[in-house]
Amino acid sequence: MTRRPRLTVFGTGYLGTAHAACLASLGFEVLGVDVDAARARALQAGTLPFYEPGLEPLLRAGLRAGRLAFTTSYPAAAEFGDVHFICVGTPQRPGSGGADLTQFESCFAGLAPLLRRPCLVVGKSTVPPGTAAAYGQRLPGAAPAGTGAELAWNPEFLREGHAVADTLRPDRIIAGVWSVRAEATLREVYAEPLAAGVPFLVTDPLTAELVKVAANAFLATKISFINAMAEVCEVTGADVLGLADALGRDPRIGGAGLRPGLGFGGGCLPKDIRALAARAAELGAGQALSFLHEIDAINLRRRTRLVDLAREAADGRLDGRRVGVLGVAFKPGSDDIRDSPALEVAARIRALGARVAVFDPAAMDRAGQVHPDLDYRGSVLGAARDADVLLLLTEWPEFAAADPMVLAKTVARRAIVDARHALDAAAWRDCGWDYRAPGRPGHPPGTPGAAAGRPAIVPRHDLGPRDAEVACLAGAI
Ligand code: UGA
Repeated sequence: MTRRPRLTVFGTGYLGTAHAACLASLGFEVLGVDVDAARARALQAGTLPFYEPGLEPLLRAGLRAGRLAFTTSYPAAAEFGDVHFICVGTPQRPGSGGADLTQFESCFAGLAPLLRRPCLVVGKSTVPPGTAAAYGQRLPGAAPAGTGAELAWNPEFLREGHAVADTLRPDRIIAGVWSVRAEATLREVYAEPLAAGVPFLVTDPLTAELVKVAANAFLATKISFINAMAEVCEVTGADVLGLADALGRDPRIGGAGLRPGLGFGGGCLPKDIRALAARAAELGAGQALSFLHEIDAINLRRRTRLVDLAREAADGRLDGRRVGVLGVAFKPGSDDIRDSPALEVAARIRALGARVAVFDPAAMDRAGQVHPDLDYRGSVLGAARDADVLLLLTEWPEFAAADPMVLAKTVARRAIVDARHALDAAAWRDCGWDYRAPGRPGHPPGTPGAAAGRPAIVPRHDLGPRDAEVACLAGAI
């Protein structure tokens, strides 16, 4: 192959669209493929069907340059591509913990019989162990190109909200290959990040697919570990923020992924740990990963705890109360509400009889489709108006910047539950708020602990000490 390989990307969700647009920005000709015609049309028109900072300009630049296009046609894609990336979704199978590989199977079954010349099919979707081996065996028999069509596995570690940076400059590139030819092709595709020093780890496809699910299982374990410690803090009176900061400073532990709060959600971590545990059990290694059930349980308990904290802050009952909710996305920087802890808490509180007013900078349209029973407002102030209790459930930066004095004039009662530890507790308490946060000692206003509500060790990620009185005066309207 003397010219640069032409690339196709099957599946245009967060992963596939970011991959396609980023590779086009590196100078490749890229064809994105989706079975959803409306989605392909929107992308071809330069419109991103989801929120992802920085991705739309890259999409438009690729389209303008004529290097990026979208289609629903598998024959066109097979004809076009030398390297075919499969980025389709692998959601949780309804009624079980296992992964639903229907989309992957249908993509493979549609593409393989059309592959007439040498090419590389690269799995990027997150799949349970054993998937790469099964498809690697099937490919030469299913493709007219025979052994000229080869499978590789190249998992993706991008985080929603950081998709562009994580794709262009990942921490590492994992090349799961069975041949030198496949390795050389992936080196060519990733020549730019490799030249910039991104580590390129060559392994077999079986290990590569496991790296991805093991990484997500580890991240989930870390988050649930600190949230389990938050539970211990709640019964001992210790402060989980100070604890997390002290733990994270040990380089063997590290502070990233050690933020306590409402736990993990989204389209990846929850379903990936369940799929990994389910496949391990099928393979006879269920005991090795049985701890993942506990990781899941700890995570889900956080949501219940938050509802309890909201009830306590609302004077013991939620029925008939007005509750203001800040954030329904599963994390800031995203409009994704799949398995969102924030949205689940809001919906549970609504189901308990409260009137729930919600604001989220990006996720309200999606949330409204699933939960039309919540009252969607256009701003933080709108969600806070006349609230008996305010809940910060997703840590968007604009929520951390909200002024406690301004909000105090909007709400019915100064009660806030900060599920994500995004606020300066002392500043809010000094402005008269009953501030509560999971895993942190409570110091209702007016009690001796109120002014001393800061953790003994000020966490690095905290907003830092702030002269609350000055802030209150400056923010007063
Ligand atoms: C996650 C992984 O971080 C990516 O590496 C992986 O590629 C991706 O899944 C995937 O499998 O596609 P993502 O789901 O976008 O990425 O989000 P994260 O930033 O990892 O956050 C996941 C959840 O954990 C969020 O709900 C977040 O609020 C929560 N979280 C994260 C915490 O509660 N504490 C933390 O310290 C970190």
